[in-house]
Amino acid sequence: MSYTAQRYEFRDKPGDYARLAQDLSGLLAGESDRLANAANTAALIFAALPDINWAGFYFLHGTELVLGPFQGKPACVRIGLGQGVCGAAAAQRRTLVVPDVQKFPGHITCDSASRAEIVVPLLERGTLIGVLDVDSPVAGRFDEADARGLETLATLLVTASAARPSR
Ligand code: SME
Repeated sequence: MSYTAQRYEFRDKPGDYARLAQDLSGLLAGESDRLANAANTAALIFAALPDINWAGFYFLHGTELVLGPFQGKPACVRIGLGQGVCGAAAAQRRTLVVPDVQKFPGHITCDSASRAEIVVPLLERGTLIGVLDVDSPVAGRFDEADARGLETLATLLVTASAARPSR
């Protein structure tokens, strides 16, 4: 397989996220291994989105989120439900857009360059299985269009992948 990731300008966020969703559908087509699909999804997002410094997954293992496939600097491995932005989004089962992580109580710093963050819960038939986390060095980087776009990508990953990653 050869794949050339496009970097979109995201001047038309809904349009570019729709094109990115098409790219992701193609990338995941015919493959159901969740670990492999999560790795390719993280790589695609990291290559395509401007002004980000981390993109990846945490998967729920018991009561903890455990680091999954990602692109960016090494990150903390275990996050309790309710802890940090990831744990808060997971506990509340809703997307959190944080314009300035320094103003988010309990934010967990993995890369000191990160200023804004968005976390999308991964829900499989209503059950929480993990989160998609994207960080940016630019304060205010993410908005509602990013939330809707990344939720669509997260749903594509969950539905393409039947099995949980091996533990
Ligand atoms: N900042 C996150 C931790 C994960 S890293 O950013 C990759 C948080 O507060 O949950």
